[in-house]
Amino acid sequence: MWRVKSLDAVLATAEKKSLHRSLGPIQLTLLGIGGVIGTGIFVLTAEAAQKAGPGMMMSFVIAGAVSAVAALCYAELASMVPVSGSAYTYSYAVLGELVAWLVGWALILEYAVAASAVAVGWSGYIVGLLAHLPHPIVVPAALAAGPYAGGVFNLLAVFISMVITVLLVIGTKESANVNAVLVAIKLVALAAFVALAVPAIHMQNFHPFTPNGWGTVGVVGAASSIFFAYVGFDAVSTAAEETRNPQRNLPIGLIGSLAICTVIYLLVAAGAIGSYGAQPVFGPHGEQLEPGSMALAAQCSSLAVEPLVCSKEALAHVLRSINHPLVGNLLGLAAGIALPTVILMMMFGQTRIFFVMSRDGLLPEVLSRVHPRFRTPHVVTWITGVAVAFAAAFLPVGQLADISNSGTLFAFAVVSIAVLVLRHTAPDRARPFRTPWIWFFAPLSALGCLVLFFFLPTPAMILFPVWSAIGLLFYFAYGYRKSHVGRGLMEVPELQPDAPRGPITGD
Ligand code: ALA
Repeated sequence: MWRVKSLDAVLATAEKKSLHRSLGPIQLTLLGIGGVIGTGIFVLTAEAAQKAGPGMMMSFVIAGAVSAVAALCYAELASMVPVSGSAYTYSYAVLGELVAWLVGWALILEYAVAASAVAVGWSGYIVGLLAHLPHPIVVPAALAAGPYAGGVFNLLAVFISMVITVLLVIGTKESANVNAVLVAIKLVALAAFVALAVPAIHMQNFHPFTPNGWGTVGVVGAASSIFFAYVGFDAVSTAAEETRNPQRNLPIGLIGSLAICTVIYLLVAAGAIGSYGAQPVFGPHGEQLEPGSMALAAQCSSLAVEPLVCSKEALAHVLRSINHPLVGNLLGLAAGIALPTVILMMMFGQTRIFFVMSRDGLLPEVLSRVHPRFRTPHVVTWITGVAVAFAAAFLPVGQLADISNSGTLFAFAVVSIAVLVLRHTAPDRARPFRTPWIWFFAPLSALGCLVLFFFLPTPAMILFPVWSAIGLLFYFAYGYRKSHVGRGLMEVPELQPDAPRGPITGD
């Protein structure tokens, strides 16, 4: 189980199918922003405020800093091993099959559960938008949310998950140009928010700054949840093979997109807090209430004016409340148009990981079957789509994001360790990009991921080891015996020799 996949074999496969290197630094940065800006800022701002209040600005900084050091480590491995499967493949080549399996298993949480979270976030915006049409359409409460908020299931979240599944099955790929347009829509919407909200700031809305302190239900706890807002930059590393001059451009894409997102997030958070207020809602006896809980939903419905922390479409709600109803609705529309692309990227990433794991023999071969006409891994796409829709139907967005974060933080921590190990075991191997100050940044990244993990809410923290244990059972019952590396089958034919690695094509 400690067997590694030889780095040379991985690279040889990659070389055989090497792609046209067409992506430059700007496209890469846009790719990163396209995958990153989504439910985190549009929706989870409310959840972060319920924990940290105005102190969520610090939460954004902390989560952004951890993401940035993790991104530096990602960049080195992505430039050395520019193949599909991201953290899973890196771990296979460096830390061995068992760790790779655990990372792949954790990436299911990162990608599939994140797709569910974004689907629920999208649904919140569409429900709000429909209710604010000139002829309002009210989605019945039973179909607007799961049981956590008194509903039955989240119909729109199921709908969008299935639409994206069908698009992926028929082989939809977003072109870099379409991505640029969608990124522009998101950026214009957020810029409009900042332009209207920041001038309306009242400094007293920043007091008290940390109503719940710095702990699990305070600033650092909110950082663990809002970390979700930064997830997705690894999409940049999956495009490594399509990148011109990866030594220079990959780190620009990774760090550039994160830096831009951090600045935007801080401005948006400041605008929301200062113009409308972002204090947590407490229970009838002054007790703290968890985001996404029945107790919070009940307390929210008893209030005459909906505070930020109760809204499912936080940014649109702020704009409507500070007398910009039209722009608020347009922002809702922008979220409605642009968020599905984040779902697409996450689900694509998930099918790709399953596909590579199945190709390595660790998952049943049926999962990497390709549709005869569409040339897509349709079996695994359907399985992923149904699972994403199921989770989105019944769980609240914040809990989904926390679960997704637990897997992502684990994968990032392993990548940070892998990059250090590889410096030691293969010091002379060509590194198109070298992480600066690796002996400082890699441990810092692993430590940052660990700290954020331990500040996640207890259910997400407990679910992760349970999930990993199930994964281990699977591995020893199946993958351990069937592994192609274990059976000496090194070369497995690629399914789509000319397909791009990521959901974005360079055209
Ligand atoms: N970072 C992505 C989002 O916030 C996953 O939706």
